[in-house]
Amino acid sequence: KVYQCTVSAPVNIAVIKYWGKRDVGLNLPTNSSLSVTLSQDDLRTVTTASCSKSFEKDTLWLNGHVEDISTSKRLSVCVEELRSARQGLEKEDDSLDKISQLKLHVVSKNNFPTAAGLASSAAGYAAFTEAVARLYGLPWTPTQLSRIARQGSGSACRSLFGGYVAWEMGELHSGADSVAVQVEPVEHWPEMRVAIMVASAAKKGVSSTSGMQSTVASSTLFQKRVKNIVPERMQAMKQAIRKHDFETFAKLTMTDSNQFHACCLDTFPPIFYLNDTSRAIIRVVENINAAAGKTVAAYTFDAGPNAVVYFLEENSAYVLDTLYAVSRNAQGWEDSERNPTSVKIDDVASETVLSGVSRVILTKVGDGPRLLSSE
Ligand code: DP6
Repeated sequence: KVYQCTVSAPVNIAVIKYWGKRDVGLNLPTNSSLSVTLSQDDLRTVTTASCSKSFEKDTLWLNGHVEDISTSKRLSVCVEELRSARQGLEKEDDSLDKISQLKLHVVSKNNFPTAAGLASSAAGYAAFTEAVARLYGLPWTPTQLSRIARQGSGSACRSLFGGYVAWEMGELHSGADSVAVQVEPVEHWPEMRVAIMVASAAKKGVSSTSGMQSTVASSTLFQKRVKNIVPERMQAMKQAIRKHDFETFAKLTMTDSNQFHACCLDTFPPIFYLNDTSRAIIRVVENINAAAGKTVAAYTFDAGPNAVVYFLEENSAYVLDTLYAVSRNAQGWEDSERNPTSVKIDDVASETVLSGVSRVILTKVGDGPRLLSSE
């Protein structure tokens, strides 16, 4: 007999960035962070977890590449915790099949090409955790599951929820209180739209894991950020989301992305994630907002040059027409009928964007992990 469960999990993009670990082993952050979950109709990881007597070792197939789970510290930590929780259930209830003794096979696939240049570890570890927990029938809340996913990859803990999600840093040494909570569900502010502008599909130069370690070790600006700035920003961001205040949401998002990249520059030796195309996109978004006379679009960048632009449905024609005007050669515009507008974008910015954006992905805020099948 094969026990099997298939789930999907979403990507999330932080608007208050996680950058820095206070405990590397447990993956505990130096500051809280907040993200928007993106729609699984457009971007998702689908993961099937199964177990059977005939399986010989815990194995993961990630986009077709096979990996022995026991050789990955991050994966084995997740499996060990979930398996021992299942063991606990089996001890309490004799009628349960002893599937905790069987080896696991996990097959995981992203529906977006690696060439989209998107970090996939968040959706990947969220889907992994959700699939194994469902297979094991664990009666856990998304917050409890987020503690497991966090140990795989920090940002993954936020993908256990839809909508607007905070990862509260916690204070315990054990990490028990370093978990994700939902700030608001997708229904609270479903008008949030997202354009991902792919400025490079190449794998990033400095991984987030090692980049943040060297920032913690060398940046003085970073110390100020985590102590004096992020705590207040978290509160302000939650307020903005509760009040549907896009202008505040947007300003916090852009300044937090800028400060994260400033901390990277303040790291020694410095880390550069933005490139000329990224900077040109920043100028285009500034142009959009200046022409609108208010803030209608916000950019944010993770550990790479790709831009994520947030805007509201009501401004989508205007924002997208302008983004189209500066990146019409990019893949991804095919399905949308766009008119370049009369908005004046400065020439340097538009030329640099035009030559640098290879693909756009249009999406919106979405819900949390979905159970697709189980047997
Ligand atoms: C810039 O979650 O990839 O995207 O915990 O070491 O796996 P690890 O790092 P990871 O870092 C994400 C950093 C970021 C900001 C964010 O998503 O909050």
